[in-house]
Amino acid sequence: MNATPLLEARNVTKVFASRGTIGARGTTTVAVNQASLAIHATPPSIVAIAGESGSGKTTLSRLLLGLISPTSGEVFYRGRPMEAIKGAERMAFRRDVQAIFQDPFEVYNPFYRVDHALEVPIRRFEPHKSAAERRALIEQALDVVGLRVDETLGRYPHQLSGGQRQRVMVARALMLNPSIIVADEPVSMVDASLRASILESLLNAHDQRDIAIIYITHDLTTAYQVCTSILMMYSGAMVEVGSVEPVIKDPLHPYTQLLVGSIPLPDPTRRWAAVQASSSAAGQHSTTQGCPYAPRCPQVMDICRTEAPPLYAVSANRAVACYLYRGAPAVATEDVSALYIGA
Ligand SMILES: Nc1ncnc2c1ncn2[C@@H]1O[C@H](COP(=O)(O)OP(=O)(O)O)[C@@H](O)[C@H]1O
Ligand SMILES: [Mg+2]
Repeated sequence: MNATPLLEARNVTKVFASRGTIGARGTTTVAVNQASLAIHATPPSIVAIAGESGSGKTTLSRLLLGLISPTSGEVFYRGRPMEAIKGAERMAFRRDVQAIFQDPFEVYNPFYRVDHALEVPIRRFEPHKSAAERRALIEQALDVVGLRVDETLGRYPHQLSGGQRQRVMVARALMLNPSIIVADEPVSMVDASLRASILESLLNAHDQRDIAIIYITHDLTTAYQVCTSILMMYSGAMVEVGSVEPVIKDPLHPYTQLLVGSIPLPDPTRRWAAVQASSSAAGQHSTTQGCPYAPRCPQVMDICRTEAPPLYAVSANRAVACYLYRGAPAVATEDVSALYIGA
């Protein structure tokens, strides 16, 4: 229960100089705001980071992958501060923590067969392996993601469907037996009809190889299908975290309530459109104090505008960053991990 997390963020904030809009010179964007989370290896967590476009999901994942450094706060890998991980240890980290991105085409070289994309990481991390051993690793990984070797190897990227390409990426990520795969919107660029097979391949990796998964998405429906825990982000901050079941079935944060109301349901009278119109300000990061959701919150109170709320532990498996729940105990940063144990 108190084992060192595999990956942990403590009070992590990332501030960017704003992207060059006229008049915005010198302004900043708080992409991630005081976020804390912990992902465990045993049992392997399977956690969704969910939120609308611009809420800071990709930035948080890049912090966890060690691709960027936080402005404040700290990221840990197996209890070690990320910035201390260098040399051989860095190499081990790169292997142990794998990433899958939104657009698989960025990883493929169109002039090489897909075999190449699979061979390169093995040659890099296991240079002593023979061609036959490499081939065996690749075939095992393709099997986990449900791809047939003869339909995959020897082909060029454009000869595969988008779903197959992304499943090859899942195979590539799990080939070297990592402890965790961070998948940033892995299905948002593929046809809806192909999404299930990709998500299933991720779940197979989790089930068969005990790999922890961080599934980043703007889509609560797939988050609910895939994950056992969920972190809801709004404007860089965690607004509601905990087991996926209570968060989605009985959301407590006013923002989660709005989003869950927008999950497409068989009932055709409930649509995305209305909600998206009302939530179009989600990407706007307030630079003012207080709860980031306060300007849009139907239940806003005075205190919400002056001080950002901590996460309140409303039950054993859930915490909500909202003053409506201030009767509950605030969660200490180092205890946020407890919410994801076992999951
Ligand atoms: N490299 C960057 N430079 C400046 N602003 C950035 C950069 N990366 C992200 N941002 C800004 O940070 C916010 C969060 O972005 P991002 O993490 O990509 O969100 P998401 O993945 O949830 O869509 C957005 O306002 C985005 O414009
Ligand atoms: Mg993103």
